[in-house]
This record gives sequence, C-alpha cells and structure tokens, in this order.
Amino acid sequence: MKILTVVGARPQFVKAAVVSRAIKNHNSSNAISSSKYHVDEKILHTGQHYDENMSDVFFEELAIPKPDYNLAIGSGTHGLQTGQMLIEIEKVLTREEFDLLLVYGDTNSTLAAALAASKLNIPIAHVEAGLRSFNRQMPEEINRVLTDHLSKWLFCPTGSAVKNLINEGINTPNVINVGDVMYDAALFYSKMSLTRRSELTDRLPEKFILATVHRPASTDDPKILLSLLEILEEAGKKYFPVFFPLHPRTKNLMKSNNDYFGRFNESNKYVIFSEPLGYLDMIFAEKKSELIMTDSGGVQKEAYFHSKPCITMRSETEWVELVEAGWNYVTGISRDSIMNVLQKISNKDWQAAPRPSLFGNSDAGEMIIKNLIAI
Ligand code: UD1
Ligand code: UDP
Repeated sequence: MKILTVVGARPQFVKAAVVSRAIKNHNSSNAISSSKYHVDEKILHTGQHYDENMSDVFFEELAIPKPDYNLAIGSGTHGLQTGQMLIEIEKVLTREEFDLLLVYGDTNSTLAAALAASKLNIPIAHVEAGLRSFNRQMPEEINRVLTDHLSKWLFCPTGSAVKNLINEGINTPNVINVGDVMYDAALFYSKMSLTRRSELTDRLPEKFILATVHRPASTDDPKILLSLLEILEEAGKKYFPVFFPLHPRTKNLMKSNNDYFGRFNESNKYVIFSEPLGYLDMIFAEKKSELIMTDSGGVQKEAYFHSKPCITMRSETEWVELVEAGWNYVTGISRDSIMNVLQKISNKDWQAAPRPSLFGNSDAGEMIIKNLIAI
C-alpha cells in the first residue's frame, strides 16, 4: 500500500513521527517486506512552518524520514496559504499513484491535503479525528469539521471524539478510538529528554511555570496579548517565574509593537522569554515545571502526560476529559479567574491526585497501521 503523509506545522511533526515509526517497525518484519502488506510511506511537508526551530529540529530529534516533497508554501492569509497548498498537493497526488492520504490534526495543511485528495477520489485517513471546540471562530474548527467529513478512516484519540462524530452523523466502523499519538510520543521520548545534555538546563529557574500562547484569539489583538502578559507577570511575582518559549506568531506581534509591549522583553525577571524549543527540550521543560499555562491543544495534554496541572487560557477546550479529571482548568483570559485557579492549584497536593488513563494504551501508531493494512 502506498501512502502520502502530509504535514506542515509543528504539532503534526510530533504526531507523524509516531505513525512513521510504526510503519517502519511494521515493514521490518521479514514476512511483510515483500508482501502486499508492505506500506510505502511518502512524506510531503507543505512548508507551513519553516523556521529551523519550528520544523527541522523536529525531523532531526524525532528521526522522521526526510520529506520526499517540500512545497515551501510558507506563511500567508488562510485563503492564500490553503489555496497554494491545494494546487501543489494535487500535483503530487496525480504524479504518483497513492492508495491513501494520511493527515493529522486541524491545520490549513490538513484541510488543503484533504480537499485535494477527496476531489481525486483518494481515500483519506484522519488522525486526531472528532475533536470539537464548537467554536467556529477558530480556523482549526473549520479545518477539522471539513476534514472529518471528507475522511474514510477517522482515528479518534478519545471517546468524546467518537461521540462528536456520531452526533454529526459519521457513524461507520471506520470511526475508531485508537488513543492519542501524542501520548505515545510523550512516553517514547520522555526518558531521552531527561538524559540528554541540553543548554536549557542552565536557563531554567529552579521552580517555574511554563507558558505558551499562540492562538489568534490570544495574539491577534495586542491589547489581549498585553493583558495576558500582565497576568503571567503577576503569576511570576506571586508564585514562580514564568518560562515562556515564544511562538513566532506571538513574537512577531510583540516585535512589531515594541513600545506597546514595553517592559516585556529579555530583561523581564518574572516572564522569561525564549525562542521556540525543540521537542525534547519542551518535554524537559514540561517535566521540570510546577504547572503549565497555555492556549495550545498539544501542550494541554502533555501537561497531563507529565503529571502537571494546566490552566487553559481559552474559553473552551477540545480535551474535555482533562477538565473532567480535574487536571485542566479552562479559565478564559480574565485575570480574576486565572488568579483564582492559580491559588487553587497551589493549594492542592498533585502527587496524590488520581490520574486516570484517558488517551489509550500507547499503541495508537500500531493500531492505525493495523487498521489500514486490512483495507
Ligand atoms: C498553525 C495552525 C494551528 C496550530 C499551530 C501550531 C492553522 C490555521 N493554524 O498556527 O492550528 O495550533 O500552527 O503551532 O493552520 N511563522 C514564522 N515562522 C514559521 C511559522 C510561522 O515566522 O516557521 C509566523 C508567520 O508570521 C506566520 C505566523 O507565524 O504568519 C502564523 O503561522 P501559521 O502557520 O499561519 O499559523 P500558526 O499560528 O502557526
Ligand atoms: N512544542 C515544542 N516547542 C515549543 C512549544 C511547543 O516542541 O516551544 C511542542 C509541544 O511539546 C507539542 C506541540 O509542539 O508537542 C504543540 O504545538 P503547538 O502548541 O504549536 O500547537 P497546537 O498543539 O496548539 O496545535
């Protein structure tokens, strides 16, 4: 079977690493290498993320095979970026004969690939299917709803994702809860992140809060970002300094409004800014942190994987299980609700808090391949 995997953005590299490794392991069995069950994976990188520390570092650290195609599309408005990807992915899909398109998550790269394949009648497998924020203001919500409705295989990370699909009338045997590929990645790379030597060790305060912010809802309006930074600074003064690797979207906004963001620069003692981290350093920082404050989807889950409480500075989350389990607090961006939750978190004994298994058996990659080769 010949598969085209399409990736483009940071979290997709992490997810694809897990399935690519499962494909490699599957093929390495002698019986498979020459049989019809052999999986030939080609990787296409759209170039949605392109900075060294947003792209190459993930391929290196996670040993993802070098992409067979790199479209180098880069940044742009949603229409421009998605449109250019659609045109170029269609060319690749018609140049070679693929049995399946494999896509991850909810970025513009995901949607462009799904649109291109669906018009060519190439079956689509969507990993991380069924997630919903029920907020159509989020570009990701549009991308995931459309991709799910175009897909033949819907590999869900959680039971609630399966339910969301059933509620939308997608109720086929190909809707399968395989668990979360990001959980598998977190387990697989956990030890490596702690044992390798990294210069990050010298830059992290002894105790710290880890923060990331990159959603348009937090970064499109400078007033909102400034207010979030002020909240983080207050948290830094009252609890622990905040270590904040900056997504380029966030960094660019701050850079182009330098005066407006005033004291939020390299000399701020309470909010310590950093370039985006590589995946292994990021896991290391997550593990060493006291708690995590974020608007990221992936980082919310990683907080749980590494037993850290998390404040989600958004008005909703797709990862409702984390909230039900009591490890994730969805606060929105109001100062008072964030400060209230910080106090609650700091008074709780997290070592004793139950951590139910929510994201599968750490064999999502294998389950995906097993299902696909049964085609
Ligand atoms: C994208 C995804 C989002 C995901 C995030 C992961 C969409 C609609 N959004 O958001 O779902 O959570 O990736 O990080 O697909 N930039 C650089 N260098 C880079 C990449 C981006 O400078 O390597 C800057 C550019 O100014 C760009 C901006 O960041 O305009 C935003 O990048 P883009 O890929 O459009 O969206 P993200 O916010 O990264
Ligand atoms: N990540 C990273 N370095 C960073 C920030 C995030 O390696 O500086 C990783 C993080 O560990 C997770 C993924 O990137 O695996 C999440 O990506 P992001 O927050 O950009 O996107 P989202 O998950 O919200 O779509």
